[in-house]
Amino acid sequence: MKVLVLFGLVAFALAEVTRFEGEKVLRLKPVLDEHVTLIRELADSIELDFWSPDSAELVTIDIDVDIHVPAAFLELASTRLQQSDMEVEVLIEDLQSSIDAQTGPTPRTHSYTKYNSWPRVQSWIDAISTSNSQLISKQSIGSTYEGRPMTLLKLGKKSSTTKPAIFLDCGIHAREWISPAFCQWFVKEALSTYGSDSQMTSLLDQMDVYVLPVFNIDGYDYTHKSNRMWRKTRSRNSGTSCLGTDPNRNWNAGWCTTGASKNPCSDTYCGSRFESEIEVKNVADFIRRNKSNIKAYLTIHSYSQLVLFPYSYTYQLAAHHSELLKVAQGAASALRSLYGTRYTSGPGAATIYPAAGGSDDWAYDLGVKYSFTFELRDTGRYGFLLPESQIKPTCMETMLAVKYIAAYVQKNL
Ligand code: ARG
Ligand code: ZN
Repeated sequence: MKVLVLFGLVAFALAEVTRFEGEKVLRLKPVLDEHVTLIRELADSIELDFWSPDSAELVTIDIDVDIHVPAAFLELASTRLQQSDMEVEVLIEDLQSSIDAQTGPTPRTHSYTKYNSWPRVQSWIDAISTSNSQLISKQSIGSTYEGRPMTLLKLGKKSSTTKPAIFLDCGIHAREWISPAFCQWFVKEALSTYGSDSQMTSLLDQMDVYVLPVFNIDGYDYTHKSNRMWRKTRSRNSGTSCLGTDPNRNWNAGWCTTGASKNPCSDTYCGSRFESEIEVKNVADFIRRNKSNIKAYLTIHSYSQLVLFPYSYTYQLAAHHSELLKVAQGAASALRSLYGTRYTSGPGAATIYPAAGGSDDWAYDLGVKYSFTFELRDTGRYGFLLPESQIKPTCMETMLAVKYIAAYVQKNL
């Protein structure tokens, strides 16, 4: 009896869910130095959850600053903001209602037009990788911090020799749910259009595409079960109860020099050293092992509608800047041709903000010339809570951009 009660309590504690009743997402428009200072001060004194840019250090004049203000701090934040003359817009009135509205009732099966939980994605990976053995296979590249297997899908016509390849990952950041949805869509489209779409056929004949459907699996699972707004990994940090490292600040590319935090409680914590995160180490090891074949590295995030390329850790232009800009712009116009969705392209540091330790810069410096970060829909109306009705159009237009880059890489092998 006692054991049962205890078990129930433990289960209850484990099942604890963070709720966001009455919490708002605000868009601040700093146009003066005082505004920037105020935002930084607020961030120091209260717990602000930065949606865009990723942290207080990245706030500058003339950029939109989207922040989620936890209920406990809403009063204080509103008072301080009203005292200033900065323009403030309410993007989301009640975060919990928006979260509830984003997904319908939990689907019973995997669906390409829904946000699938990790167990659903995992069984989808197992099913799809055995469905068409001429075109797809899976391999493990290691486990996550919490022990979940990281499975990489390899798409491409079987060949006796090693083919040049493209590496595509999704879900580096846990709360950017549209990203894993895109990787799943990409795999489905690749398999179902091979043989009928001439570009996809020639791509998979000549090249392999490695797809990592969810990079930060522990974080992704946590956003489904406990805290929808989680961004980082779920690893322990010494000397604090704050968990996780930003897996896009943990790479050996100007590691932790700019746009990243040394505070383990921050959402942009760079980690105790580069590759401290096992997920980052696993992917970096795989790309290093295969670096002579990997010709392009594509990583999918949200939101902001951007096609970014190196560098983000410095304002210096990449050696292949003009070519990368041309390819990014080509990808953005291919994307726009479908529904008119506008994307901005450019090097990370100058286009959004300097932020070191990212996977795109690391891959580029390793020698993978065509290295791009996508920030998918939208521009802030829903932010991370993009409705499921937008999964299909977002994925369809993004396919055009990714296929544009793939075709370019293929032509320039
Ligand atoms: N919002 C993304 C992030 O902060 C942008 C990544 C751009 N690349 C970079 N190396 N910072 O992770
Ligand atoms: Zn991201």
